[in-house]
Amino acid sequence: MDLRAPRGTRDILPEETIRRRRLEQAFADLCGRYGYREIRVPVFEHTELFVRGVGDSSDVVRKEMYTFQDRSDRSLTLRPEGTAGVARAFIEHGMSSWPAPVKLWYNLNMFRYEKMQKGRYREFWQFGCETFGAAAPGADAEVIGLLDAFFSELGLEEIRLEINSIGCPGCRDTYREALRDYYRPHLPDMCEDCQIRFERNPLRMLDCKEDSCSMLAADAPVQLDYLCDDCRDHFDQVKDALDRQGVRYRVNPLIVRGLDYYTRTVFEFLSEHVGTQGAICGGGRYDGLISEIGGPDMPAVGFAMGVERLMLELEAQGINLAEEAGPDLFIVSFPSTVADALALARALIRQGVSVETDLMDRSIRSQMKAADRAGAAFILVLGEAERAADEVKVRKMADGREDRVPIAGIGDYLRANR
Ligand code: HAM
Repeated sequence: MDLRAPRGTRDILPEETIRRRRLEQAFADLCGRYGYREIRVPVFEHTELFVRGVGDSSDVVRKEMYTFQDRSDRSLTLRPEGTAGVARAFIEHGMSSWPAPVKLWYNLNMFRYEKMQKGRYREFWQFGCETFGAAAPGADAEVIGLLDAFFSELGLEEIRLEINSIGCPGCRDTYREALRDYYRPHLPDMCEDCQIRFERNPLRMLDCKEDSCSMLAADAPVQLDYLCDDCRDHFDQVKDALDRQGVRYRVNPLIVRGLDYYTRTVFEFLSEHVGTQGAICGGGRYDGLISEIGGPDMPAVGFAMGVERLMLELEAQGINLAEEAGPDLFIVSFPSTVADALALARALIRQGVSVETDLMDRSIRSQMKAADRAGAAFILVLGEAERAADEVKVRKMADGREDRVPIAGIGDYLRANR
């Protein structure tokens, strides 16, 4: 039996979970301040939701889904992203009758059958936000502003924001034809995927990573030149609202995003440190998704951020969110006082102190060593004499200072001398 975690998945060990938890708290806290509420959706959905929602011309649907038949022969798929599931939940729970806009955030694991690389896994986590019901450009600018605020609260710098508008279905049709006209003579030299994209969704040809294709993208016509008046106005207002928040960005006409549901604003936050694709985060407006999967007409905008990529970025920029802290107190005990140590630990833990005791029947000497290794801030020895006198000697590990403390006063003593 192979005891390694399946390819593309990884165990998250305690040293990392501490840093992740800090990140999760920071994200949850910021989302709360922006008025977002948390949603959790199932880890698998009906396959059709992703085929219709994410789109059958996307790589995610064509090549990367973990799809299986359940025992009743339903086709189910492990979620490759969060937006489609959240949109389904929006419809299922009648959220269009909630006060608008409905602002939701999530922290969920996703599954994509991708080639393993730095920053690219088959199971990965995303922080995401979705705002439903707000068509105004301010909603686009708010989610981007939230991201910018998040990175700056974490102390991250050098993350580039690139934005673009891919228009509405109306102006995109004209643009698609212009793209086809441009690519048609070059088609025989392009990769197999682009041959398919040419028919299904030529926009995706713009972000093909094959050398021969990406060189052509540089001279391709750009959507910005084909925007209808409404889309142009929307994009101008998004840029203006970003400027006013002091958010720096670059307009990059080649940002088209890999999922089919986008309309108008699309954006990515990029960095050199997170692997070949460089995207820490991506998102945009998707005004057609809710109706596409059977709900009402409902404007929406959102993003998702790769948590592993965010952690790579933090590491590359030397930002350490959490040192692992040892226990406040280690109680050294004897076989005859182990039960007293446990009872004392329980009483102190109830007061909010973190306490370890010996669970291994170790000698006093090796318990002392264990306390040191665990990084305990204080230790005390609980023997029969101490139990009888109702008083212990507490030693502060940092400076070796020792004080006699009544057992009932240990919690107060630790708090006062930490
Ligand atoms: P996405 O661009 O496919 O968008 O993914 C968002 C982020 O998830 C990426 O920028 C990247 O950081 C991370 N990510 C994607 N694939 C992997 C992987 N295999 N391993 C590690 N990290 C990965 C979406 O998923 C959309 N649902 C975003 C959205 C929300 N748009 C509107 N609302």
